[in-house]
Amino acid sequence: MELKKMVGYKAAEFVEDGMVVGLGTGSTAYYMVEAIGKRVKEEGLSIVGVTTSYRTSDHAKELGIPLKDIDEVESIDLTIDGADEISADFQGIKGGGGAHLFEKMVANLSKEVIWIVDDSKLVTKLGAFPLPVEIVKFGAGQLYRLFETKGMNPTFRKDENEGKYLTDSGNFIIDLHLETIEDPRGLAAWLDSLTGVVEHGLFLDCVTKVIVGTNEGPVIKEVNR
Ligand code: 5RP
Repeated sequence: MELKKMVGYKAAEFVEDGMVVGLGTGSTAYYMVEAIGKRVKEEGLSIVGVTTSYRTSDHAKELGIPLKDIDEVESIDLTIDGADEISADFQGIKGGGGAHLFEKMVANLSKEVIWIVDDSKLVTKLGAFPLPVEIVKFGAGQLYRLFETKGMNPTFRKDENEGKYLTDSGNFIIDLHLETIEDPRGLAAWLDSLTGVVEHGLFLDCVTKVIVGTNEGPVIKEVNR
C-alpha cells in the first residue's frame, strides 16, 4: 500500500465516536479524510470535523462527514494532519500545501495532534524544506527584500498559471530557502514580530503523536514533552 495511504488510514483508527476532529490538508491528509468518511458511512461513526482548507472541506462534504466552522466549537479533541519536515525533537515545518495558517489555528485548539508522514519527511534538523511564510499583499515586496537582505533566499510561491499563489485568506506566500534552521524558536519569534507576516510554517511544540509510513508498516511515535 502506498505509504501516505497507510498512515492516513492508520490515523483514522484513533478517531472515536463523539469527537470533534481537526481535518488537515494535503496529499497524505487526503487519505485520512477518505478513511474517516468510510468509517462514518460504514460504521455510523458520529463525529464533527473542523477543516483546515476549502479543499479539505469540499472533500469531507463529498464524503458526508458532518462539519462545523472553527468558531462553532469550543475545542477540538484530535487533529490529524500531514507535515513537510519533522526534526528529531519533533518540531515541524508545514505549509507546503499553503494551508498552514488554518492548520495552526486548528492545531492550537486541539487536545491531541497527530502528524502523518512517510519516512522521507523525518530529518535531523529542519530547514531543507523551504519555510512557508504567509504575508499580506500590502508591502509584500518590502518583506521580500528584508528576507533577501538577511540572506534567507526568498521566493514568492507561484500558482499553476505562474501568478502569485493566493491562500484561502487571499494572502501571498514567500518560501524561505534556508537549508538548515539552527534556532527554530528564535526564527519563529522573529517572524512573529514582523508586521505583515500573517503566519509561518514552523510548528513548534505542537504534535503529540507521529505516525510514520515505512515499507515495514506504520510506526507510531509518542511525543513526550
Ligand atoms: C499543507 C500542509 C501539508 O500537511 C504538508 O504540506 C504535507 O503535505 P503532503 O501530505 O501532501 O506531503 O502543511 O499546508
